[in-house]
Parts: sequence; C-alpha cells; structure tokens
Amino acid sequence: MSEKKIKKIVVSGIRPTGNLHLGNYFGAVRSFVKMQDDYNCYFFIADIHSLTTHPTPMNLQASVKQVLAEYLACGIDPERATIFIQSDVPEVVELYVFLNMNAYLGELERTTSFKEKARQNPDNVNAGLLTYPVLMAADIIIHKANFVPVGKDQEQNLEMARKFATRFNHMYNHRLFPLPKPFTFDGKDMIKVPGLDGSGKMGKSEGNGIFLYEDPADIRKKVMRAVTDSGPTQLNQVKPEPIRNLFTLMQIVSAPEVVEFYEEKYNTCQIRYGDMKKQLAEDIIAFTMPIRNRIFEIRNNEVYLARIAKEGAEKARASAAKTLAEVKELIGLKRLF
Ligand code: TRP
Repeated sequence: MSEKKIKKIVVSGIRPTGNLHLGNYFGAVRSFVKMQDDYNCYFFIADIHSLTTHPTPMNLQASVKQVLAEYLACGIDPERATIFIQSDVPEVVELYVFLNMNAYLGELERTTSFKEKARQNPDNVNAGLLTYPVLMAADIIIHKANFVPVGKDQEQNLEMARKFATRFNHMYNHRLFPLPKPFTFDGKDMIKVPGLDGSGKMGKSEGNGIFLYEDPADIRKKVMRAVTDSGPTQLNQVKPEPIRNLFTLMQIVSAPEVVEFYEEKYNTCQIRYGDMKKQLAEDIIAFTMPIRNRIFEIRNNEVYLARIAKEGAEKARASAAKTLAEVKELIGLKRLF
C-alpha cells in the first residue's frame, strides 16, 4: 500500500475574510503547515459559505485571491496538501442537497451560530444561513475526513457533521462516512497571541492585530502605541496584563537572549518600554517581512494562482466524485437501466 493511502484525512475550510494576522498565524495556520506531512490534507476556501452575507462580486473576487495568496505564502504547499476553492468542486453542492433531505428544521434552528447570526442580522435570516452546517458537513464528509482542525467556535458545526454522517450511514445501513473528529493541537503548538491593546487575544474585529501583509511603518506605529504602564517599582514585581502581553509577543518573535535582556531590565526596575517596543517592532517586521514579500509576489502572479486553483480543484473533485458516486448508488440514484 502506498504511504498516501494510510494517512488519515484532514479537511479544513477557511472563510475568505482575508488578511491573516499574527494571531491566525500562530494559532492555526502554522499548525496546518505542520500537518501537511502527516495527514492527507484538504484545505479549501469556503467561498460559497461566505455568500450568506452577500458580498459584492468584486469583494468576493478580491478576498478569495488574497486568502489563497496568504495561505500559500505561509507555507501551505500545493505539492503536499490539496488546496482548492469550494465553488470549484460542484460535487459538494450536490451532496449538500442530499444531506438537506435529512436535516431537520428544529435542529438547524437550535444551532448556536444560527441563532446568533439571526439575532445580529434579523433582516437577513436566509435559508443558506439555516443550512450552513449542512454545507459544512458536506465539505467534510465528501472527502471522508477523519479530522477537522477547527477552533472552539466551530465545535457545534462539527458535531452536526457527525450527526448527519451517522444519520446517512444508518439510513442506508452502510458505514460510508467515517465520523470526523475535531483535531486539537497539543498545548505547546497552540499559542494564544495577545493583542496590543492591553488585554485579550489578537483578533480581526478587535482592531488590535498586526497583519502579515502590513508594511513596516504601520507595524512600528502600532507597536509603539501598545498599552503599557508607568513601570515596575519593586524588584521582581508581578507583570500586569498589558506588560505580560508585550513579553509574550516578544517570546513569539524575538531571540531568547533578547527576551532575557528585557526580563532582567524589568525585574531590576530599569526597563524602558520605548526601547522594548522598538526592539519588538523590529523583530515582528523581521518575522513578517518574508511572508509579506511572498504574499505580494504570489498575488501578482495570476498565472501561478490559476494553476494552483485548477490543480487543487482537480484533486479535490476526484476525491469528491468518488464519494458522490457511492452516495448516489446508496440512495438509489445510480442508473441501472
Ligand atoms: N465554518 C467555518 C468557519 O467559519 C468554515 C468552514 C466551512 C469549515 N466548511 C468547513 C471548516 C469545513 C472546517 C471544515 O471558520
């Protein structure tokens, strides 16, 4: 048996919201990159899912391209993983329709994310929003995924995917779909990157993030504006959260000697936050610069992007078509005449 056959299958979808920040990178993307060798990975851009919020065609085009370029720039390797765009694989939509026949209004309405979105946008409670977990289940089970690396906010959707897979297996008395499990990275891989605003983690909506594509002058400005305090007054004083956050960021991007140097300064009440921030900004820039350059390079190379998307779609379609044929046969949709 070839090595590829015995690898477990991983599927994860990325919403095309674009503009990855350091939090995304150390929280998720870096782990995707590491998984490529040990698993048969399918990473895709969930552009159909994003239609629930009615993006303009221009924005949708731009964000799909940006996310693709950013993931490739971070090291997702089309030679090792299958990277594709959801709408390039129409088989998934077909499976979604079949799964919808056994997805019940009550259970869909009870989903936390549906209730949440319906509450936030009462004027746009569309059927796509209601059946979002069904499409997500189709994304996952069409490749017979064993693992799905997702954050906490997606756990319920994943539970629904297992429910729909189980239901299908029972209904047709055939164990076609494995049950997809959440993939959680071991503690040391999962770095929670703090924001620059003194508390909490780095997030897109929080406006406290540093983007991978961001230019050095803006990074310097953001870091210099980070929240600090008037400095320690006692030896080895416990660090308040904003200061601890700066040190955490430094641990992520700076050399150990640098972190040690500022630890020592802090512990002896000699720290100058301005100096520390300058150093931190330079180390962030040194880290993001190669990724930034690759994002721009890839984004400008439409021939390359088109080839990656096409090859990814071909690989994903081959896998999806195989499952779909089995599904249709079980349902009774395979032509026997
Ligand atoms: N719902 C996921 C999110 O918002 C995106 C997604 C769509 C996904 N299909 C998926 C994630 C399949 C994992 C597997 O982040």
